[in-house]
Amino acid sequence: MLALLWFGGEKLADATSGFQVGDLLALIVLVERLIFPTALLGFTITVYQRGQVSIDRIEAVLEEPPAIDDRQTQVPTAPGSGHLAVRDLAFTYAGTKQPTLRGVTLEIAAGETLALVGPVGAGKSTLAQSLTRLVTVPPNTIFLDGTDITELPVAYLRSRIAYVPQDSFLFSTTIRDNLRYGRPGAPDSAVEGAAAQSRIQGDILTFPQRYETVVGERGITLSGGQRQRTALGRALLVDAPILLLDDALSSVDNQTATEILSELPRHKTVIFITHKLAAAALADRIAVMDQGQIVAIGTHDRLLQTSPLYQKLWQQYELQELTA
Ligand SMILES: Nc1ncnc2c1ncn2[C@@H]1O[C@H](COP(=O)(O)OP(=O)(O)OP(=O)(O)O)[C@@H](O)[C@H]1O
Ligand SMILES: [Mg+2]
Repeated sequence: MLALLWFGGEKLADATSGFQVGDLLALIVLVERLIFPTALLGFTITVYQRGQVSIDRIEAVLEEPPAIDDRQTQVPTAPGSGHLAVRDLAFTYAGTKQPTLRGVTLEIAAGETLALVGPVGAGKSTLAQSLTRLVTVPPNTIFLDGTDITELPVAYLRSRIAYVPQDSFLFSTTIRDNLRYGRPGAPDSAVEGAAAQSRIQGDILTFPQRYETVVGERGITLSGGQRQRTALGRALLVDAPILLLDDALSSVDNQTATEILSELPRHKTVIFITHKLAAAALADRIAVMDQGQIVAIGTHDRLLQTSPLYQKLWQQYELQELTA
């Protein structure tokens, strides 16, 4: 515009050029009209470039071959009721020398509640991850309702086991959608039922936006116990025959944890890993794990008499409870 005024002004002063005020005005209007589209073009180019980078990243994910190839497998014709068997399972993490699981053999009847306890690093989470094939297990070691899990489609296996990992992931969206994550089409009444069952509903109703409250990135606006109960509600909503809880109530007070566990549906197979031995004592059976092996299994009373490790863990637990 400045250049136009400069040269236009000079031309106007020069009477021999034939350049008139009208010409200058027309030029000014035309230049003005170009300002907005030019700015918009810059904006469009930026958006386009950002889109292209995003598409490249999505494509990279889509093109990644799945770690487990289950194309040859089939969904069983008659789904069972949630019986699990582990036979002589060994597992070593890539890059480590010591095996993390060594000859684990375990059977869990459909509808049974089994607590899995043991010192830190015993391999409890690794065993839980094996059941859902989050770590690679060899064939003929784990059986769901009699079928080797490596012969089942992964999506089917995971639809049968509602798994709450040791550190659950919450998304920065509403609590309602976080609860619905495993069953996106669930009606509101079912979502609220699951929230009540996992004892998070009371907390949610105190939030200003209730179920529509947006949870911060990774759930930072919730307390540890609220996060855990949200993750549990999410698993309960899925309504799979097997519920697998990896230390899922560690930040929940004993009273509430006991209430939640004793109200779980009777027909479900429940495996819960815990350091809260008072909660474990409620289970039908307790399996004690140490250094990658199941070293004892039985009821609380029986283990107190027979398993030195369980006695030690129980004493430690009681001491902790006293000092807490
Ligand atoms: N991704 C991994 N890569 C290599 N080693 C691992 C990995 N995850 C776990 N381990 C090792 O395997 C062993 C068992 O770990 P795991 O998480 O199964 O223990 P845990 O019994 O669940 O313990 P906690 O009670 O603390 O949750 C530990 O010695 C740990 O260091
Ligand atoms: Mg663990």
